[in-house]
Amino acid sequence: MVVGNWKMNGLRETLKEARHVNDAISASNQLSLVDVILCPPATLLISMSNELNLQVIRLGAQDCHTSLSGAYTGDISAEMLADAGASAVIIGHSERRGDHSETDKDVLSKQIAVHRAGLLSIVCIGETLGQRQADLTTMVVERQLEKSLGPQSTAQNTVVAYEPVWAIGSGVTPSLKEVSEIHSVIRGHLKLRFKEDGTKMRILYGGSVKPQNARDLMALENVNGALVGGASLNAADFLSIISASLN
Ligand code: PGA
Repeated sequence: MVVGNWKMNGLRETLKEARHVNDAISASNQLSLVDVILCPPATLLISMSNELNLQVIRLGAQDCHTSLSGAYTGDISAEMLADAGASAVIIGHSERRGDHSETDKDVLSKQIAVHRAGLLSIVCIGETLGQRQADLTTMVVERQLEKSLGPQSTAQNTVVAYEPVWAIGSGVTPSLKEVSEIHSVIRGHLKLRFKEDGTKMRILYGGSVKPQNARDLMALENVNGALVGGASLNAADFLSIISASLN
């Protein structure tokens, strides 16, 4: 699975990048084997769902509110996102946890809302640089998994994205050995808690994934795909990451 997170980038003209990706996947038997989800700003969901073939690229949102509807100025419910064409929602991204003080408890409430709406939750976890330097990575990641994932999580409705906060947008990634180690910790946790589902739940790596490093990262055991920020805004780069996931 390769997920593109456009963050707060993208006007309607950015759609042409998504169209390129859509056309290239449609034209290739190989690329169509990858589960591709693009998460544009919510303002683009409706036009993208009208213009793209959603059998080829699925759409996702970057956040949602926990309630179904109500007096929540500026917020959008998971049901509204589904209505606009989304089939997945990223939750607990470090930019939401950091900039909006979202806690694991908030992320769990959002995950329940995403599942209530019948959508796939892409739950982000990951340590800060300070936590890594203090040797707290495993503890932080285990705590986030324990508190952000609800008992209703299954391999069908949940994807975990491990994104070390210090790797996001920085051009720096952990070593392959470090990624491999932490993904195996995550797999161990998922198996223990969710049994059979835990063996199948997809675990993505995110944080400075580029065409140059995508193949090596996604070849690691327990790395089942990538969550891509900056490089998903450019069709050529995003396509090359999608094709790297096939090897
Ligand atoms: P990046 O962002 O690929 O630009 O580092 C990843 C993310 O924040 O999901």
